[in-house]
Amino acid sequence: MLQRNKISILDSQPTPIHFLPTLSKELGVELYIKRDDLTPFGAGGNKLRKLEYLLYDAVQKGATTLLTVGGAQTNHGRLTAAVAAKYGMKCVIVSIDDYPGEISANILLDAIMGAEVVLKKNDGSDILLQYAETAAAVKVRYEAMGEKVYEIPMGGSNTVGMLGYYECAEEITAQAKEIGIEDAILYAGVGSMGTYMGLYCGLKNEGSPLGLTGIAILPFNEDSDKHIVEYFNQIKEEYNLTINASRQDFNIETGYIRGGYNNPDAAVRSAIYRMARAEAIILDPCYTGKVFAGILDMIDEGRIKKGEKVIMLHTGGMPGIYTKHHRVEFEKELIDHVTIIE
Ligand SMILES: Cc1ncc(COP(=O)(O)O)c(C=O)c1O
Repeated sequence: MLQRNKISILDSQPTPIHFLPTLSKELGVELYIKRDDLTPFGAGGNKLRKLEYLLYDAVQKGATTLLTVGGAQTNHGRLTAAVAAKYGMKCVIVSIDDYPGEISANILLDAIMGAEVVLKKNDGSDILLQYAETAAAVKVRYEAMGEKVYEIPMGGSNTVGMLGYYECAEEITAQAKEIGIEDAILYAGVGSMGTYMGLYCGLKNEGSPLGLTGIAILPFNEDSDKHIVEYFNQIKEEYNLTINASRQDFNIETGYIRGGYNNPDAAVRSAIYRMARAEAIILDPCYTGKVFAGILDMIDEGRIKKGEKVIMLHTGGMPGIYTKHHRVEFEKELIDHVTIIE
């Protein structure tokens, strides 16, 4: 057990794990889904678990404004806006993308929940530097208005945010025990890494029998190899973990990126239709559709064996379907399902 404090946004209720009977039969595996898309506020998703811990830290530090960063698609931005709205704080999200362009569905939701979104057109220079400079200028502006600003990194993935998935690992372990699937492998998307790292530390440090496989949803390069080890070491040091890990201990599939972050992809859409038509669960085109497409490929390739127990973590992200570059592709493929009567 780690020493940790949070503000309970999820009311300490576990999200359900659903067995997927139709897909299990079709695929020859025992397939389950952990419904973190059903977390309760701001249209739900994985980031609320991280934000329980980040919000506590922000409140402890007397913050009045939450400032975070992320691309136009950011679900993390949306859920930061949700938490700010619910707990009476201001929220500002710095987003660097290819503007002028469309306003993503998530940005609309941010604005609906009262957040300010600062859109900066990507000028092609170092993206992290652009984020740092833009966020610094926005922070100065808010401070000049008398606000105390708490900065949350991209995806909420720091040593505080990962605690949400450390706790989720314990929750899933208890649920798996109750269902009788402790020999299952948990599959989760890997973006800014906080979800995977929290799960990894929570499973290993608490001695869970569950396995863990990450599926990278954006290119996982040498910098990512370095970063994941550094991130683990920061956590180990901060919380005095007794476990050790090096790069090869992190089981992350890097071959299912499908053209890059948030890239529209036919196999991902097909995986989304398959889940929706068999189990009435909606995935998203940026993260969870990619994870499920990866699971389907791994089953086809025999890398997930017949009869294995698979728990897919549904991390949310459904508004991504309504983002223009995905939506146009969905519309082209789905128009046959629409009967028009003139
Ligand atoms: C819906 C969804 N799934 C998965 C992820 C990946 O989580 P992480 O960034 O913690 O790796 C994100 C991150 O933005 C997300 O929004």
